[in-house]
Amino acid sequence: MFHERLRRVQAKVQEALDDALAFHPDVPVVHAMRYALQGGKRLRAFLVIESARLHRVYEPEAMPAAAAVEALHAYSLVHDDLPSMDNDELRRGQPTVHRKWDEATAVLAGDALQTLAFELCCDPALGPRRIELVTALAKASGAEGMVLGQALDIAAETAPAPLTLDEITRLQAGKTGALITFAATSGALLAGADTGPLTRYSRALGLAFQIADDILDVEGDPAKTGKKLGKDAAAGKATFVSLLGLAAAKVRARALVEEAEAALASYGDAAETLRDAARFVVARDA
Ligand code: IPE
Ligand code: IPE
Ligand code: MG
Ligand code: MG
Ligand code: MG
Repeated sequence: MFHERLRRVQAKVQEALDDALAFHPDVPVVHAMRYALQGGKRLRAFLVIESARLHRVYEPEAMPAAAAVEALHAYSLVHDDLPSMDNDELRRGQPTVHRKWDEATAVLAGDALQTLAFELCCDPALGPRRIELVTALAKASGAEGMVLGQALDIAAETAPAPLTLDEITRLQAGKTGALITFAATSGALLAGADTGPLTRYSRALGLAFQIADDILDVEGDPAKTGKKLGKDAAAGKATFVSLLGLAAAKVRARALVEEAEAALASYGDAAETLRDAARFVVARDA
């Protein structure tokens, strides 16, 4: 059921993203944007659609927000892979955008994917609360959210001492957590409902997700992740794995999944797919 639903959202969000760029100019930067929007698990889009469904906001009214979060995420990956950031050559099993084109194209494609995300969030189909969605996306993406986390991540590479658990938690809450929280709370937000339970769910989920990413970097299969592994240790990244070791990081991730599941208690059985998503986040191999 979960995987079936996920596959459906993957196909639908790809359609929405293709439509969004259908009439853009036929130039390299747009080709690079389309390229960067291919593939991926689409977990963030799935969280948008499922949190919306939970609040009786149905797919057509939530799809632009799902496409928006994936466009924003794609931008963050294109920039994350740049030589001045993580200097990666492979993403989603393909050469990174700056390798396939060049650095200037990657910077500009990332910029335009970011503005595309906000354009999508302004789609009237999202209804009267879309302005709140735009604000939430801006906060999650910027210097209080993803950009802050990325800046702390880069700074940690050259920090004189290893980061503490609190510092790593803050870093990861920004770089990965903020956008995941945006995605998982967007349904409640669009419905004008309380975002509290989904905020608690997604904070735990976001951390578990990043711990799983850090574990995959150590013991994943590159044929499945579609990215080069072993890069965190080589770059001196601050992660739960670098601080606690693999075994304790796994224990922490599992505890966070239970915390995420428990946060949905007030929704009862209706939130089972989101509980499945929490379990998927740590069980995944890509
Ligand atoms: C990878 O995100 C980067 C992080 C934020 C850890 P995902 O693992 O969601 O990447 P895709 O979208 O599935 O490729
Ligand atoms: C990337 O984190 C986070 C963002 C893009 C915001 P990582 O650097 O750990 O992601 P991967 O491992 O390259 O996918
Ligand atoms: Mg990075
Ligand atoms: Mg990276
Ligand atoms: Mg990583």
